[in-house]
Amino acid sequence: MKAVILYDSRTKSGSTEAIIDTMGLKLAESGVYVEKAKCKALADYSFLRDFDLVILGAPVYYFLVSSQLLGALNYGNLKQNLLRKKVALFLICGSPESMATVLYLPQLKIHLVRNKILVEKIFPSNVLSENIVIDSFVLDVLHEYNKTLKSRFLLAKWTVEAQEWLDSVPSFLQGKIKEGAEKYAEAMGYKEITCEMLESAKGEFGG
Ligand SMILES: Cc1cc2nc3c(=O)[nH]c(=O)nc-3n(C[C@H](O)[C@H](O)[C@H](O)COP(=O)(O)O)c2cc1C
Repeated sequence: MKAVILYDSRTKSGSTEAIIDTMGLKLAESGVYVEKAKCKALADYSFLRDFDLVILGAPVYYFLVSSQLLGALNYGNLKQNLLRKKVALFLICGSPESMATVLYLPQLKIHLVRNKILVEKIFPSNVLSENIVIDSFVLDVLHEYNKTLKSRFLLAKWTVEAQEWLDSVPSFLQGKIKEGAEKYAEAMGYKEITCEMLESAKGEFGG
């Protein structure tokens, strides 16, 4: 499995870099091939196609998630290249977790509604004093990732309504739609194919 830690920070050799190095070490110890990449808003993120798992995160400055990461999601091609990727999220901040969950995490999650988010975690800036917290984040991510692999072998079930819709489509299109929907469900970790899921898959595949 190949993972990349995509991060941003204003501070060279600051807490973020130390945290991701600890994460990287734990991933490598667990047998994962891992790279790190620092975000630039307008960089080309097509390299993400080479990775199975993207761990994405940054610190918060003045109530906003660090600007190059937000910029890459808002203006660059990051969001597009994250489609159907398995993603884990982390934030680093000085605010209490409850506040960060409401104010900061949504700044990332609003861009990732079509992703399978394996784990999300808010680290306090002093987390390095307890490396075990970072290690346990990595282990949670790997556990969730492995769960998605196991569920790959179980094809998602079609709900009655979704099956009725499929039956109403011209028969020469049915096979292609069925295969596409099942692949999409697998990538997203869905166990059921519903009409709502077909609608969002349609958006992704451009109709
Ligand atoms: C200039 C500055 C502004 C910050 N603003 C916030 C903030 O608005 N909310 C918050 O929870 N933490 C805030 N923090 C805390 C940082 O998110 C935290 O210290 C983080 O670990 C910094 O990462 P770095 O060392 O990689 O720069 C701020 C820190 C700095 C230095």
